[in-house]
Amino acid sequence: MKTMQMWFRLAACVVLFASTLYSQDFKKHVIYQVVTDRFFNGDTTNDNPPQSSGLFDSTKTNWQLYWGGDLAGLQQKMSYLKGLGVTAIWISPAVDNINLNIPDGNGNATAPYHGYAARDFKRIEEHFGDVNNTFAAFDSFTSSAHSNGIKVILDFAPNHTNDATAGEFGSLYDNGTFVAACNNDPNGIFHHNPDIGDFNDRYQLQYYTLEGLCDLNQENATTDAYLKAALKQLQQHGTDAFRIDAVKHVTWGWEYSMANSIFNNAGSFLYGEWFQGGTGDDLYHDSYKFANKSGIGLLDFPLEVAIRDVFASGNAFSEIDNALAAENANFIWQNDLVTFFDSHDLPRLLSVNNNTNRLNEALAFVLACRGIPVIYYGDEQYLHNDTNGGGDPYNRNQMTSFSTTTTAYTLINKLATLRSGSNDALAYGSSQQRWLNNDVYIFERKFFNDVVLTAINKSDTTGYTISGLNTALPAGTYSDYLAALLGGSSITVNNGTGGNNPVSTFTLPAHAVAVWQFTSTASAPEVGSIGPTVGQPGMTVTVAGKGFGSTTGSVLVGATAGTVKSWSDSAITFTIPSITNAVYNVTLKNSGGTASNTIQLTVLTAKLIPVTFTVNNATPTSPGDYIFLTGNTVELGNWGTTFDTAVGPMLDPNYPNWFLNTSMPAGTVIQFKFIKIAANGAVTWEGGVNHQYTVPTTGTGFVTVNWQN
Ligand code: NOJ
Ligand code: NOJ
Repeated sequence: MKTMQMWFRLAACVVLFASTLYSQDFKKHVIYQVVTDRFFNGDTTNDNPPQSSGLFDSTKTNWQLYWGGDLAGLQQKMSYLKGLGVTAIWISPAVDNINLNIPDGNGNATAPYHGYAARDFKRIEEHFGDVNNTFAAFDSFTSSAHSNGIKVILDFAPNHTNDATAGEFGSLYDNGTFVAACNNDPNGIFHHNPDIGDFNDRYQLQYYTLEGLCDLNQENATTDAYLKAALKQLQQHGTDAFRIDAVKHVTWGWEYSMANSIFNNAGSFLYGEWFQGGTGDDLYHDSYKFANKSGIGLLDFPLEVAIRDVFASGNAFSEIDNALAAENANFIWQNDLVTFFDSHDLPRLLSVNNNTNRLNEALAFVLACRGIPVIYYGDEQYLHNDTNGGGDPYNRNQMTSFSTTTTAYTLINKLATLRSGSNDALAYGSSQQRWLNNDVYIFERKFFNDVVLTAINKSDTTGYTISGLNTALPAGTYSDYLAALLGGSSITVNNGTGGNNPVSTFTLPAHAVAVWQFTSTASAPEVGSIGPTVGQPGMTVTVAGKGFGSTTGSVLVGATAGTVKSWSDSAITFTIPSITNAVYNVTLKNSGGTASNTIQLTVLTAKLIPVTFTVNNATPTSPGDYIFLTGNTVELGNWGTTFDTAVGPMLDPNYPNWFLNTSMPAGTVIQFKFIKIAANGAVTWEGGVNHQYTVPTTGTGFVTVNWQN
């Protein structure tokens, strides 16, 4: 009887977590990224486990070995994290990694303390959990995080297993049972191609080997099912969201089906690592097409480059302003971009420029900027080690101090509180530059009548007189929301017109940051977020914002009502109705019938299945011309004929044959054709009747046709 009661309580808890609002909306969150091994050692019994003994260095002198940090340690530091104000924690890949030491070029031992050398995606790494690789410590950590109001984001690397040519030779296990390895792969679980040589070649990026790591073949039905089942299991153990490692190297088309599969299991938020140098990158267009269509947000690398150039290297603020302007014009879901400047792959800002003012300013910038901010662990303690410039591994420092009184700790707490609270401007607002010179950036976030105006002076010596500043803040006097923590003071706003209210001239002292805010009461429902942004009839979607009212109203997808599953003043969930696949506008109506603004939702035909299309002997192409796929459903671009609307570009390692892996609606008869889009945008259609194909209901599909002249 006792046990029965316990089970019921447990089940009730699970239901409670599953229905927590905002599970698909991270825009009100501040993310804290940790390298789990380097944060806190909460359980010494897993320091040197028998199956992988010798990979632990208690002296913390070999930076490539495990140092003892674990899930229990994260759990023990939960109140520190809560006090910091962060509401989501991004942890290292926690799945079982290889057990063998792989010596580096100098013969020194190395271990996968970072977590990017998986062997079994269905078990937990023994150094982070327990020696039996169970989920016990993971479960305990996720429930402790949840009861402290903190979401868990797991780093997940679907691109590869481990080193292809040493150690365990890429071995993959399914909950302990051997599946395949790079040197033992009769069923094609892996790709067997050279290392990527050309990082602008779309085929090499997706099909070649990244950093010598055995490359998973997601078009193989076994691999596909395995990865999706592993993700599902991780969700069932309390993972709220995933950071997807190396999304530029995983088969792009497959990732749409991965996202769809995750969203069908439960509400989630996904963001991928699409490494790039800026908006001028050769594949920048591919990156925003991917973010706009896949349902997967991206880490904001172009902005990261600009932030580091401006705050660490002394470039003018116009570089940040230009990056934001370009990206905001291209990304539909710009508030779902995940913003950061430090990470486990970059030297810390303080290693590039040891100036704590600049670190504080950069922190304030990302916390107020559009996008979901990441704080890299230790930045709040001004942690850095500058050996060899502070790059990998010296950026994966041991966390040594947990002070709750540093300026950065207080700053993060204040701005995280502003973001998660009733002012929706930071989470959902538009973004506008209001005043700019080389040293000063004043920018405004605005969501309906909620406004946050942020001013940063990065000069350590020069104060500036700010005149001619306009704002959408209503007339009045505003004290600095940061309470002079970084030297800011109050401003006076005068009445103006057209949302441009003049601010009385004031002085922004050297290295000052000030934040002024106005929180409004909504008079109609105001929608700021939808997630996922793409899904099929029957999928649950979350819409968030403010002023929805406490009484249930209605939701329309186009003109059709969706079934409301939950309703609160700031977030609702509903089920996508059975309507024709297309891109729709979603509208909320409060119980009195007052309608909100609209937000875009792509309604798929059905659940997504990976399908690889091949067209042989496609029309002659010249350099810069590409073959694309187009067809009769939203997944096929609805006969679109542009780079953004058709599916592609396709890949031509066997020119003049072209192929592309995509995600298509399960069990659906699709009509399609191939087109050439020339470098100048001119379109050539293949002739003949449409090709037809029935997408399988499970597994993965393949279809090969000849180009019809
Ligand atoms: C990018 C990760 O951030 C990096 O740390 C890792 O080594 C590679 N992907 C490979 O997984
Ligand atoms: C769009 C479709 O109707 C398709 O069937 C046709 O081949 C092309 N247009 C080219 O006319």
